[in-house]
Amino acid sequence: MSETIDTLLSEDRIYSPAPEFRAQANMDDLSVYEYANTDPEGWWAQWAGRLDWFEHWTKILEWKQPYAKWFLGGKINACHNCVDRHVIAGRGEKVAWIAEGEPGDVRLFTYSDVLREVQKLANALKALGIQSGDRVCLYMGQGPELTLSMLACARIGAAHSVVFGGFSATSIHERINDASAKLVITADGAWRRGKIVELKKIVDDAMAMGCPTIEKVLVYERVGAPGTLTNGLAAPEYDRGVWDDSRDIWWHDLVPNQPAECRCESMDSEDLLFILYTSGSTGKPKGIMHTTGGYLTGTSATSYCVFDYKPTDIYWCTADCGWITGHSYVVYGPMANCVTQVLFEGAPDTPDKDRFWRIVEKHKVSILYTAPTAIRTFMKWGEEYPQRCDLSSLRLLGTVGEPINPEAWMWYHHIIGDGKCPIVDTWWQTETGAIMITPLPGMTDTRPGSATRTFPGVYATIYDEEGNDLVRTHGLPVGGLLVLKRPWPSMLRGIWGDPERYEKTYWSKFSDAYFAGDGAKLDQDGFFWLLGRVDDIMLVSGHNISTMEVESALVDHPAVAEAAVIGKNHDVKGQAISAFVILRGNVTGTEALNAEIRAHVAAKIGPLARPDDLFFTAELPKTRSGKIMRRLLRDVAEGRALGDVTTLSDPAVVSSLKSQYEDKEG
Ligand code: WT7
Repeated sequence: MSETIDTLLSEDRIYSPAPEFRAQANMDDLSVYEYANTDPEGWWAQWAGRLDWFEHWTKILEWKQPYAKWFLGGKINACHNCVDRHVIAGRGEKVAWIAEGEPGDVRLFTYSDVLREVQKLANALKALGIQSGDRVCLYMGQGPELTLSMLACARIGAAHSVVFGGFSATSIHERINDASAKLVITADGAWRRGKIVELKKIVDDAMAMGCPTIEKVLVYERVGAPGTLTNGLAAPEYDRGVWDDSRDIWWHDLVPNQPAECRCESMDSEDLLFILYTSGSTGKPKGIMHTTGGYLTGTSATSYCVFDYKPTDIYWCTADCGWITGHSYVVYGPMANCVTQVLFEGAPDTPDKDRFWRIVEKHKVSILYTAPTAIRTFMKWGEEYPQRCDLSSLRLLGTVGEPINPEAWMWYHHIIGDGKCPIVDTWWQTETGAIMITPLPGMTDTRPGSATRTFPGVYATIYDEEGNDLVRTHGLPVGGLLVLKRPWPSMLRGIWGDPERYEKTYWSKFSDAYFAGDGAKLDQDGFFWLLGRVDDIMLVSGHNISTMEVESALVDHPAVAEAAVIGKNHDVKGQAISAFVILRGNVTGTEALNAEIRAHVAAKIGPLARPDDLFFTAELPKTRSGKIMRRLLRDVAEGRALGDVTTLSDPAVVSSLKSQYEDKEG
């Protein structure tokens, strides 16, 4: 790769926070950046000080690269900080969760309700033999029983390992055995697009593959037996698996009878809070480890500053707790701040494509945090769906998960935010635990497509392949590899069972920095523009062009709803650009439109970036968390046999693309 990434696409629209927003914002003093930068340990310790500690720490940080320990000697419990202390402080009647199931059932839990239920569940876990230091695997749909299970584990000092409810038996099996989990908590099923995800049946299949460390399986009855009424809902036909009396226990036979008092275990600041598996680009998933005191400090501080919580807010993070976003910004960060939030079980198009906006209207959501992939899907569906609903309760919008194309940002800003809500584009990773690059909504000017500045106390910069800090040697603007230069409290503490892989993956490319794996550029004002994974940067005739920039130029064309771009091997240019495009609503893909869209890219970025070929498609291959799998598109474009498609949310998409591609080529 040449020295820098060519910074081709320019975006100069700027949005400043409205004076009314600024006036009420939690963070309004620009000097925090400087303060946090000169004394990062003091800055983080201030945030740690907002938490309840059973014993105060004796040392803020011990850093032996790549191993950090934060708040050494401190004793703390995450569940206490998310639940008990709010009830103790007289906030027990505040609603914690507005839990809406996909069929439309709604349950409210106050913080006092959560405290009572979490203590019963924690006692049930103890009755099943779970102790401090054990691992528990959670495989459930998004709902209060999943969040309760996470908190109950934290309460007794067991580490949870949540496996997303869309994963297969093979994935569960692999994750259980890697972590030597003793217990699985699951449900009979979960509602998804009007059908039932057969959770218990899938757990049975995982058990049949051999999970020697599992002693019991605790099963919450969410759906009920087919043909019966459970929680007022009629259960459709689905496979509930086979009940094994020696292993399986119904939640309702065990949990309600437990005593409603269970003391919080006093945990060391550095005790393991959870493991969360993230699929590396190749091979075996990595069990990312997060510990207690630092993680809670990072997630609670960023939640407060970035989401600007007020006691009256209704917050909704649409992420599932199977992902890090659900851990950090559904459970630990928001609950440590005593927030009222929506938990939604289902899909955004069930029963209709306005489901999200119905929820915003009904529960008067004021802060919405979702993903660019969802926003682009809503764009594709059309404005009519949000326009059916009253979205005037919204005051702040957020996004996470991948770069947001300026066009999608503008749509979010106008159609959802009515031009009045700041947008916080937050960059972070499973590994960072908490938000690292983000606007602070009351004081940061935003630009469509830029995650703007580092969170105070975080030090990010741009390196070249040789490890030179390009900001120092080259100045601004500059593009290259994103690195983080100093430890932060919520950083991963390692990969479960594989310290070598931890050092190799994140700390071996450069001797003095954490390599995030992403490309980024810093503009002349010091704003960060994330360019996606380094693997997604193309080298076209000697120029580095990010797939993301070309995709943004494509989505900028009025006929285009979504786009994915890959570099395909080319004898002359090194790589040639292939584009896969989903058109909006009722637009038809003609030859003329094809040429027009490619010309649009050339006009926006430069002739160098004009795609050599462009294919219209109805769907793109995505992982279950919504990321485009460019590797598979490269396989298609380069005529290779299809690689592993098991992590795709819809494996049929690629084979249909492949036959379409071959028709065209042939
Ligand atoms: C990767 C981390 C962090 C929670 C969800 C994903 C990409 C994430 C942004 C953003 C551009 C982003 C990066 C990062 N990413 N947020 N705001 N702008 N890219 O967690 O699965 O660990 O993925 O997601 O490539 O490295 P994850």
